[in-house]
Amino acid sequence: MITLGIESTAHTLGVGIVKDGEVLANSKSMYSPEKGGIHPTEASEHHYGNAVNTLKNALSKAGIQKEDIDSVAYSQGPGIPQCLQIAGVVGRSLSQALDIPLVGVNHCISHIEIGKSETGAQDPVTLYVAGGNSQVIASSEGRYRVFGETIDIAIGNALDKIARKMGIPHPGGPEIEKMAEKGSKLIDLPYVVKGMDFSYSGMVTKVVRMLNKHSKEDLCYSFQEHAFAMLVEATERAMAHLGKKEVLITGGVAANKRLNQMMKEMAEARGGKAYKAPLKYCMDNGAMIAYTGQKMLEHGVETSLDNSTTNPNWRTEQVDIPWL
Ligand SMILES: [Fe+2]
Repeated sequence: MITLGIESTAHTLGVGIVKDGEVLANSKSMYSPEKGGIHPTEASEHHYGNAVNTLKNALSKAGIQKEDIDSVAYSQGPGIPQCLQIAGVVGRSLSQALDIPLVGVNHCISHIEIGKSETGAQDPVTLYVAGGNSQVIASSEGRYRVFGETIDIAIGNALDKIARKMGIPHPGGPEIEKMAEKGSKLIDLPYVVKGMDFSYSGMVTKVVRMLNKHSKEDLCYSFQEHAFAMLVEATERAMAHLGKKEVLITGGVAANKRLNQMMKEMAEARGGKAYKAPLKYCMDNGAMIAYTGQKMLEHGVETSLDNSTTNPNWRTEQVDIPWL
């Protein structure tokens, strides 16, 4: 079966093509704001404007014609409402025009599924860390359940907010990581873990208020050390609670080396193992939507036109996963 998947939950418009579980193409076009963060209307205009060429690009990379596609998957949520529309419109149009099945895919779950497939992790506790999401997720009783998450802003969003105040363009994470490597003084910041949940807004406010008192390098270093330790703590607690030995890190912030190092140390100290999804699948992409959509269709899950409306607040634990 050949499945085409469309991703458009935030800044990336992605089109992936998967044949029998193998990725044939993974094309993308990314919206980058000239200044500030993601502007929803501008991002959606970017996605509409690049939908056809990204689609054509993926078909040509896969060496197939649109008539060869057997099914269409699209990111149905969660995400920025204006951006989500594009995957929905393109997915529905292709499904109707080619008379092929349609399946709406949960974006967060697709990160987990392609991450498991690429790393070989069997039943990990997943730390999904990105601009809009920060969740500790694990399988339990036929669903992926969120065991811990941010109670205010996502870690990627926190990094972007600090970067903006430091004059670093979006996305700010990679530059903050470079500066953090040069920092050495650990400045005390609010460390907020409540049960399995965590919070970043107070830490961001404190860093911003101290911009004139400390070097950017020391502030970036201190932010990373505090913020990542909170994520590792929540992940470790989920592992202990569920008796799981594997961790999978995915999402844009998974690219951060320090976070991976801290997670690896924790997992190994528990006799477990930490896996990182390949960078191209940590970032938003169409291949993960195609891959997960194909798996859902193979297990009899299909989305009718009536139920195909996008859902910006679609929760990970609302989706039945037949193969868990
Ligand atoms: Fe994502």
